[in-house]
Amino acid sequence: MNPPFISVLDDLGSLTDEAALHFVDAAREAVTEHGVFRVALAGGSTPAGLYRHLSLEPFVSVIPWSRVSVFWGDERCVPECDISRNDLSARETFLSLVPIPPENVHPIPAAFPDGAERYEADIRRVFGLTRGEWPRFDLVILGIGQDGHTASLFPGQEALGESEKLAVRVTSAPKPPPERITLTLPVLNAAARVAFLAAGSDKAAAVKRAVAGDPLIPAGLVRPLDGKLHFLLDSEAASLI
Ligand code: 6PG
Repeated sequence: MNPPFISVLDDLGSLTDEAALHFVDAAREAVTEHGVFRVALAGGSTPAGLYRHLSLEPFVSVIPWSRVSVFWGDERCVPECDISRNDLSARETFLSLVPIPPENVHPIPAAFPDGAERYEADIRRVFGLTRGEWPRFDLVILGIGQDGHTASLFPGQEALGESEKLAVRVTSAPKPPPERITLTLPVLNAAARVAFLAAGSDKAAAVKRAVAGDPLIPAGLVRPLDGKLHFLLDSEAASLI
């Protein structure tokens, strides 16, 4: 595993610009290499500026939207109309404003009791996977919590040890809401690129541990087996590394 690439930007605004450039680069590389770009988006607030950028110039017109397929790293188990849903936030911020084919948007069916299984089946179908194969996302965008969680993989929770399923339900997340569906660690580590986005001094301690690969936090366990790991940070989040 190569060491992570670390980009430290002055502030959230420049971090957002850098993240948009990273997204475009990953999209171009993937479409050049294999004709499609499959990306898993992060939830939370940090990537909101990135998503807005993707609907605006100079980014919107250089992304091959007809070749882009969008997934999510995790989803909160709340009603589909609840603004705290990660997919609704992304739809309102950019997906409804760009020419991506509707069938290329793959929300996590979090309202269903078997939502994790449904999501896994959708991923297997889109990636054309046979049993035992892992999806190789071209890019997985991740946030990080102060406790070192990422997606909905929280410290000390059972979901961290999942080694066969692509997605699992979490029922006691310490970050509300308690019930979520998340991609599992093997999926994150099968990606071609993983990009953590983190801003603010409150993330500095978790970022330090994640960059060091601290196995006691979920973000420290994200190490793409055959892929690139990037940390896109503002100066506050990078203040301890
Ligand atoms: C979620 C996210 C979660 C988030 C981090 C950081 O659904 O809550 O997937 O992992 O990325 O908690 O959130 P902020 O970007 O809001 O700090």
